[in-house]
Amino acid sequence: MRDSSFFTKVVHHKADQTAAVHSKATPIYQTSAFTFKDLDDLEKYYEGETSYLYSRERNPNPEELAEGVAALEEGSAGVAAASGMAAIFAGILSVVKPGDHILAAEDVYGGTHNLLSHELPSLGIEVTLTSFRDQESIKGEIRPNTKLLYSESVTNPFLRVEDMTVLQEIAGKNDLKIMIDNTFATPYLLRPLKQGADLVVHSATKYLGGHSDATAGVLTGERELVEKARQKIVSLGSNLSPFEAWLTYRGTKTLGIRMEKQSRNAQALADAMQRNADVEKVYYPENVSAEGNGAIVTIALNKSIEMNTFYRTLGWIKIVPSLAGVETTVSVPSRTSHRALSAKDKERFGIDDHVVRVSVGIESSDDISAQLEQAIEASK
Ligand SMILES: Cc1ncc(COP(=O)(O)O)c(C=O)c1O
Repeated sequence: MRDSSFFTKVVHHKADQTAAVHSKATPIYQTSAFTFKDLDDLEKYYEGETSYLYSRERNPNPEELAEGVAALEEGSAGVAAASGMAAIFAGILSVVKPGDHILAAEDVYGGTHNLLSHELPSLGIEVTLTSFRDQESIKGEIRPNTKLLYSESVTNPFLRVEDMTVLQEIAGKNDLKIMIDNTFATPYLLRPLKQGADLVVHSATKYLGGHSDATAGVLTGERELVEKARQKIVSLGSNLSPFEAWLTYRGTKTLGIRMEKQSRNAQALADAMQRNADVEKVYYPENVSAEGNGAIVTIALNKSIEMNTFYRTLGWIKIVPSLAGVETTVSVPSRTSHRALSAKDKERFGIDDHVVRVSVGIESSDDISAQLEQAIEASK
């Protein structure tokens, strides 16, 4: 039998926490709560003098990520969430309440489409999804209770670039807020807050993290809205964990060089695919920004291509229902992100099994094109 002090020692033994440790990387604050010396110390938290009480409310790692992204996007505040969807939900709830109306682009990410078309209406929030290609169709859908315009800076999978001048003009005339998902463009290419958006959201799972090893979301923009969204995240318990935040923040440090290289590789792949007679159409935007046009290339292959053979012969390019890692991957929107669309909508948007979304990585540019070309050749 151990003596009784063992049971105390085993819990309370730890190194002196007050010793100054000058760690180059931010430590992972893997703790659910923070300690206080006395009641005065505790009061300091409620008076806003100290920042941390309980990790669901705030933790240094998610804070570091959110502040870092806010700085890149030039937002006055930022908040991290457990996923892109959690950040989108909280951001929307910071603007609208039951009885309000949201006008959203119909070609947003499938998960967002689902949130907008099913979850929000079930909470009494009205939503219209419409084409944002045409400003008349946006203007025609505005209602007296419309509060928010929602879109993506670059859409998925056909990479339509949102016209922020149009949205800004419509929002200005109708006193609406604008929320933009900047996941595909990242602040390396576009900064929607500088173009009139009030809130910018990211699936940080993608380019911000960049290594396909963490699921995270970040919302940034006007401080007042971001603080409201933070309250939603706290109440819904959709905060980001310290470790996921740490990984994602580490990823952001290489965002610049990754996006620079991946955009260059994507441009080269788009050019190679344009020259390929077995590719019916290449979707790759032009003039997105002076820094490049992004790292996603969507191709529609000729109907004569046998798609299972194509995927089987892609070798190191794997089917991955996500994007934005350092490795080149492909996804099949008809089977994953856009699977839930009705057959009619799939046809209307031109999404079928021959549409392949390529997330271009940091490999040697020629190898990426060659790998796709040989798979196309083998599948004829
Ligand atoms: C453009 C876009 N926004 C939001 C999301 C949702 O992000 P998450 O999966 O991190 O919740 C995704 C996911 O693929 C996306 O592509």
